[in-house]
Amino acid sequence: MKKQNLVEKPKRIYGKRTDYGERILAEELGEKYIDYRKKWIKASNRELVTDFPLYIQIEHTGKCNLRCPTCLQGIKSFRDNYSKGFKPLSMDLYKKVLNEAKKYNCPSISFHNNDEPLLLNDLEERVKLAKKAGFIDLIITTNANLLTKERADNLLKAGITKINFSVDAFNEKDYEKIRVGGNFKKVIKNIDYFVKKRNDLNLRLPITRATCVLTRFTAPKAKGFSEFWSKKVDMVEFQNYQAIKNYTEKNIPAGAKIYTGFTCNSSWQQIVFRGNGDVLPCCSFYATGMVVGNIKNSSIYDIWNGPKMKKIRQELLKSNFRFSPACEKCAGTFYIIKSL
Ligand SMILES: C[S@@+](CC[C@H](N)C(=O)[O-])C[C@H]1O[C@@H](n2cnc3c(N)ncnc32)[C@H](O)[C@@H]1O
Ligand code: SF4
Repeated sequence: MKKQNLVEKPKRIYGKRTDYGERILAEELGEKYIDYRKKWIKASNRELVTDFPLYIQIEHTGKCNLRCPTCLQGIKSFRDNYSKGFKPLSMDLYKKVLNEAKKYNCPSISFHNNDEPLLLNDLEERVKLAKKAGFIDLIITTNANLLTKERADNLLKAGITKINFSVDAFNEKDYEKIRVGGNFKKVIKNIDYFVKKRNDLNLRLPITRATCVLTRFTAPKAKGFSEFWSKKVDMVEFQNYQAIKNYTEKNIPAGAKIYTGFTCNSSWQQIVFRGNGDVLPCCSFYATGMVVGNIKNSSIYDIWNGPKMKKIRQELLKSNFRFSPACEKCAGTFYIIKSL
């Protein structure tokens, strides 16, 4: 197949294969995927509002096995408040989401938000159901500590298309400072097994990706990270750091500047479901303060096209973040390093 230009914007990936993932996905998944990515790019530019979200994220567990100092799960008071009374989305509600997504040919789903998806025991079953419902892009983002051989085998069978390993480091000493509670040796073993098994099965999917959030711990070592991980996985990607106001500013990397040109396109692309059925307009740490509906008493279509989502798009298009305390906090907390 002819190489398609599907890359939304150049990603800050060190190394040669910057559009590798998109190219392989287009080759493996064909026209449906290409069509979805074209819509995705338009939605990213805020030029298109589809009838139904292009991407749904489900926060199944609300909890995490690690305590990364960059994340809300690493801050006790934030975490307790965030996860208070949290229960995984019931199978009935999950199926309700899938049924409606199927009706509107929703292309893309992931199984985490600010939590760890592998804490969910029936994750693989839920992935299979999503595949059956017609999703073409099925994404797992994980810290990989619980990615045992059995779970790796089952996720490969279930048909995921992308797996992001949030690792942030390439040696034990750094890893244990950044991914608190995690075990570097186990993570390497788990990821090596996953990649080998996928290759032994002669599969090109899922695309495997190692990611690193650029903080004071990681930014000085970005090149070493890239060199180490690009030998193990398909893609290496760096993510801008979002400091949590009044909590994690100390982790901002030297030389980073607050991103003043910040625009938000999330409400053109996706929505997030929490375990109690609440629907959020985005995956921000603050979005629990911006519930736009609940799946128990509304359809996704009505929420996505309803007055709350419309108002959010209207204000974000003007870059007026002050209309919502959650947006105001979120917009002012991204840090970028120009030289990277
Ligand atoms: C919150 S985690 C949840 C999924 C899973 N537990 C994991 O770590 O992959 C989702 C992604 O957010 C990233 N992340 C965590 N804290 C962040 C921060 N302060 N700024 C930007 N990204 C962050 C993680 O590295 C991960 O890639
Ligand atoms: S593993 Fe993921 S959810 Fe857990 S604390 Fe780290 S970044 Fe947050």
